[in-house]
Amino acid sequence: MLRTHTCGELNMTHTGMEVTLSGWLQRSRDMGGLTFIDLRDRYGITQLVFNLEANTALCMEARKLGREFVITARGKVAERSNKNPKLSTGDVEIIVDSFTVLNVSKTPPFTIEDNTDGGEELRMKYRYLDLRRSVNRKNLELRHRMGIETRNYLNGQHFLEIETPYMIKSTPEGARDFVVPSRMNPGQFYALPQSPQTFKQLLMVAGFDRYFQIVRCFRDEDLRADRQPEFTQIDCEMAFVTQEDILNTFEGLAKHLFKSVLNVEMDDFPRMSYDQAMKLYGSDKPDIRFGMMFTELNDPAKGKNFKLFDEAELVVGINVPGCSEYSRKQLDELTEFVKKPQIGASGLVYIRYAMDGSLKSSVDKFYPVEDLTAIARKFNSSPGDLMLILAGKAEKTRTALGTLRLEMGKRLGLFRPGEFKPLWVVDFPLLEWDEATNRFYAKHHPFTSPKPEDIHLLDTDASAVRANAYDLVINGTEIGGGSIRIHNKDLQKKMFSVLGFSDEDAADQFGFLMNAFEYGAPPHGGIAFGFDRWSTIFGGGESIRDYIAFPKNNSGRDVMIDSPSAIKEEQLKELQIRLVK
Ligand code: AMO
Repeated sequence: MLRTHTCGELNMTHTGMEVTLSGWLQRSRDMGGLTFIDLRDRYGITQLVFNLEANTALCMEARKLGREFVITARGKVAERSNKNPKLSTGDVEIIVDSFTVLNVSKTPPFTIEDNTDGGEELRMKYRYLDLRRSVNRKNLELRHRMGIETRNYLNGQHFLEIETPYMIKSTPEGARDFVVPSRMNPGQFYALPQSPQTFKQLLMVAGFDRYFQIVRCFRDEDLRADRQPEFTQIDCEMAFVTQEDILNTFEGLAKHLFKSVLNVEMDDFPRMSYDQAMKLYGSDKPDIRFGMMFTELNDPAKGKNFKLFDEAELVVGINVPGCSEYSRKQLDELTEFVKKPQIGASGLVYIRYAMDGSLKSSVDKFYPVEDLTAIARKFNSSPGDLMLILAGKAEKTRTALGTLRLEMGKRLGLFRPGEFKPLWVVDFPLLEWDEATNRFYAKHHPFTSPKPEDIHLLDTDASAVRANAYDLVINGTEIGGGSIRIHNKDLQKKMFSVLGFSDEDAADQFGFLMNAFEYGAPPHGGIAFGFDRWSTIFGGGESIRDYIAFPKNNSGRDVMIDSPSAIKEEQLKELQIRLVK
């Protein structure tokens, strides 16, 4: 028998028992007459002990073992004289009678411990060693539990898990596709799905009613901490439902996961319209763990001969509690922060509301105390607060202030670990105008239904049309998004035409869907959650990479298997692909 127990299970109740454990040698220490070995497996660490005097030959053999050797050891469980409260097995140790080396190991390139000395690139190259570290193991265990509980909940709600193809057809909407050449159809390519969107809609036409899939999606887009080129969605669709039914069903899923995985009871999730989110937080995924909502100041701030404000479409600010004593240096830092190109504000105006009740601003020249008092009143500011104000084009200024608000939240330590604030953002606009290409794009995707009461605006004021679309946001991260779909062929055709598709292009790319809509498509809608992101939020992590067993780096590379890589000339020839040098 290679093991009777795991390295994470022995305690005082096992003392005196003969056991066999197998695992990796994490660390060994020679202390005079005793040699200690920490033996690790997926479940934990158990201390092995060898006594030089009692069993000299065995102890000498043990002293030859190196880090990460795989061994199996037999011995008796004994109470430890020096207990380790940090380990679940820390009350006991194994007095070893015999052991076998199952495999040797080269010295690993970094220490396989919670606080490792390995940099990210090195750990990614040896990801199989990195995954031996308990932090990574715990992340994948959490992800596993979330997957199981998702299946439990959705199965209980009569959803069927159905697989959809990975080799599909390239379409120009959304992000870029990853494409796969077809040997049997030279010059033609499959695309890997950015999501199973059209297939799940076809499953509704097919009558499946409630579908879900924990499914890999592929998007060739710029990568960030919360984006991978291949990632996993919990993808869902329902027929014969309203938006309200969908929000309730999936709020149910979210509450089930909070309870079953984190043991947290959640109250009903608040809802906010997209317009409100933009106006109050400058973001369509507001982090509502703290307040500091926007105050619009056009009224008290304009008309005082301060050009920056007078010429701005919007003057808007936040009131930061308790920061009136910020130093010049700190305020300069904030000014530099908002002026960074990716934030793009032209400058920052501040007003300090000192503890003695006096008001002092960076624009005193234009704003005497009465004016500052009017502004402070509008902010509902109190002594001790600091008001930070930006001005410019409305949308851009709101976004910049949204970023500053998050920065202040971070500086003030308002992101408390273990605190979760979910939010439904609803009533997204249907379309988004793009200056560069001079056309509308679907804000969500081209299958999203306009709100019935806004359909008449499609021809006259398309940017004002709102969609039956919604996102689930937790702590400022977009966890999922979905919509009620168009299920009427004519409306879908209209949508493609608003998006600038010719009838031929629409038929060529989405003819299969529009045909299906001619055969009794039921009203339907759905949602997809980013499984990697959700796991990361639950685990309190920073990057989704830590919750994916084998992730890509920021250049989209897998440095362990060295991919992407060139392929052989014969392979290219067979695929009839010639590389342009
Ligand atoms: P959407 O494009 O909003 O919707 O994607 C749904 C969710 O998937 C996650 N996500 C990502 N996670 C990691 N890396 C990425 N590159 C990435 N891109 C997206 C996000 C996002 O909220 N078919 C629609 C859903 C629907 O309408 O039902 C869709 O894919 O958490």
